[in-house]
Formats: sequence, C-alpha cells, structure tokens
Amino acid sequence: MQGCFITLEGVDGAGKSSHLDWLADWFRNRGRTVRLTREPGGTPIGEKLRELVLHQPMQPDTEALVMFAARREHIETLIRPALAAGEVVISDRFTDASFAYQCGGRGLPESRLELLEQWVQEGLQPDLTLLFDLAPEEAARRLASARDPDRFERERRDFHERVRDAYLRRARAQPERIRIIDGGRPLAEVRSQLQRLLESWA
Ligand code: TYD
Repeated sequence: MQGCFITLEGVDGAGKSSHLDWLADWFRNRGRTVRLTREPGGTPIGEKLRELVLHQPMQPDTEALVMFAARREHIETLIRPALAAGEVVISDRFTDASFAYQCGGRGLPESRLELLEQWVQEGLQPDLTLLFDLAPEEAARRLASARDPDRFERERRDFHERVRDAYLRRARAQPERIRIIDGGRPLAEVRSQLQRLLESWA
C-alpha cells in the first residue's frame, strides 16, 4: 500500500484535536496502519523544541526557525520512514501552521518561509489537509474554558483573525489539497462532513 500524509489545521479552539482518533480509526477500519503525530513535536527533539516554543518568548524569526528545525527532525526520522513503509501519517499541524501563525499572525514575509519549506521538505507535501475553520470570537469562547493557555493561545483576537485569514487564503489557493471543515457545527455534523469528504477523497 502507498503511504499517505494527512494534516489537520485550524485556529486554536477550532476543534481539530477532537477528530484525530476518529480519523485514525477511519483508516484503520480500512486495513491501514496509522501513525498519529503532531507539530511542533512528534520526535524526542521535537517535543523539547515544542516545550520551548510554546512557553519561551522569542523573536518571530527564531520562532519560525525552531518550528522548521523540529519539522526537519520529524520528517527525517518519522514521516518519511512511515510513508515509505506504506503507513497513513496523520499530523496535528504541519507547515500550513507556520504560514498561518508566523506569516499571518506575526507578519514574517512568506518568501522567507518558502525558502525554509524548500530546504526542510525537499518537495514533501501533505496529500490532504483538513482545515477546521472557526470564527475567532467562537474560538476565544471555547479557549476561555481551557486549561493553562500557551503563548499562542494568549495572543489577542486580531492575531487569531490574521491566522484564520492566512489559513483561508491558503485553502483558496490550493483547493485540491486543503479542504475546509466548518468547525462551528455540532460535533456529529462535523463528523458526517468529514466522513463524506474522506469517502469521496480516498
Ligand atoms: P496546538 O496544536 O493547538 O496544540 P494544543 O491543542 O495542545 O494546544 O498547539 C500548537 C501551537 O503551535 C498552536 O498555537 C500553533 C502553533 N504553531 C505555530 O505557530 N507554527 C507552526 O508551524 C506550528 C506547527 C504550530
């Protein structure tokens, strides 16, 4: 079987994490071996960098470089080997998050990230990206009841608006790969939308 790389994206609070296990089971029920992972993170070094980047204030460029350093380790030691073994790799966030948060949110030029993307990914792209979209007001309401917010979750509303806009712009530019899921619907409805999408995509 051919390996397959799926990523989940969206503003903080859009609900992507609630669907990870369901998505993994959907593929397992079709006889696939699934590797669930996340960014930043997914490897021992990546998890240390995650701890750092989520809690330690740093320059925007430094932040982008840390994300891509973690990503390189993730790709080389986990993602590529799993894909080569024919597994389905599902990652909770990947490079679209860097374009959304570090470019959209922090204002870094996209050209800089495009260079890093080429260096670090050498052509690797997700086969499918599920973008959970949610209005920032609703996302903020959901996050208000969440535990200890990290550096990104503590950002102001306009930051999250720019992140969301950047995600939606990318989805419009790459509609084949990036599919928008309405994260504002009740969970059961989101599930059936996901199911229909996967059935027509797989
Ligand atoms: P998140 O995936 O939302 O994890 P949790 O559900 O445990 O809060 O947290 C990761 C944060 O990292 C999120 O706020 C977005 C940010 N991030 C970036 O800014 N750039 C990136 O390239 C990635 C992968 C994540």
